[in-house]
Amino acid sequence: MPRTQHHRRYLMCRPEHFTVSYSINPWMEPANPTDTARAVEQWQRLHDTYLELGHEVELIDPLPGYPDMVYTANGGFVVDGIAYGPSFRYVERQGEAPAFIDWFRANGFDAVVPEEVNEGEGDFLLAGDVILAGTGFRSTGDSHAEVARVFDREVISLNLVDARFYHLDTALSVLDPVAEDGRATIAYLPGAFDDASRAVLERRFPDAIRVSDEDGAVFGLNSASDGRNVFISPRATGFEKQLRDRGYTPILIDLSELLLGGGGIKCCTLELRGPR
Ligand code: ARG
Repeated sequence: MPRTQHHRRYLMCRPEHFTVSYSINPWMEPANPTDTARAVEQWQRLHDTYLELGHEVELIDPLPGYPDMVYTANGGFVVDGIAYGPSFRYVERQGEAPAFIDWFRANGFDAVVPEEVNEGEGDFLLAGDVILAGTGFRSTGDSHAEVARVFDREVISLNLVDARFYHLDTALSVLDPVAEDGRATIAYLPGAFDDASRAVLERRFPDAIRVSDEDGAVFGLNSASDGRNVFISPRATGFEKQLRDRGYTPILIDLSELLLGGGGIKCCTLELRGPR
């Protein structure tokens, strides 16, 4: 079936200060060398590809001493022109929060400073009319209730159980959030969720693409989609085929250097959704 491309506006942050100097997820090994120039080059390719496909990209200035700021998905959750700000779990990233709030305010968003610990679109994904919310490692269950209040939408809480997939966006991807019937197509890694959450996903998203452990382990699900083009890791070959079979166009972008920090394509991409 043919897929329709939707215009996207994204917030990104050039990884000028990228390195791995601490470890807050199982992918980060401060003893291993990182190559900042290579991170910038790979990131640039993602940035340029978005523009070539007609999307808009806004940039936030990278702060020295905050090597994880490139993962802008954690900088907030933006729907209907309202930007729910982040409150990072670990002290290493907490200084990023005011920078994101300031950016939202300076750019015409209605910024909400959160009371609860949450890591933005890393754990909150808009799927059709509902918000899917992850917890277990970073964002708290209380932040799910806060998000429900802020956006006045249904929130479906999902429990993550595998430390490698510590944010929801490492285990679940929304492929076309504006489906005509209000129900979005999603892809997910079943093993990243507990039994109860898997049952909820099966019931609410019977047509979902279930991705293999191999593709999940190379961060295949950490992908962005405009409804037709799906930006994925070139190593997720099984997922690439599943997407083609469903009529999507996979666009392969290698962010291997940024994976050393435990992040991929989606982590580097925050969607800015304007007023309704
Ligand atoms: N090193 C970062 C952290 O652990 C990676 C964040 C990845 N972001 C994401 N949206 N999954 O916080």
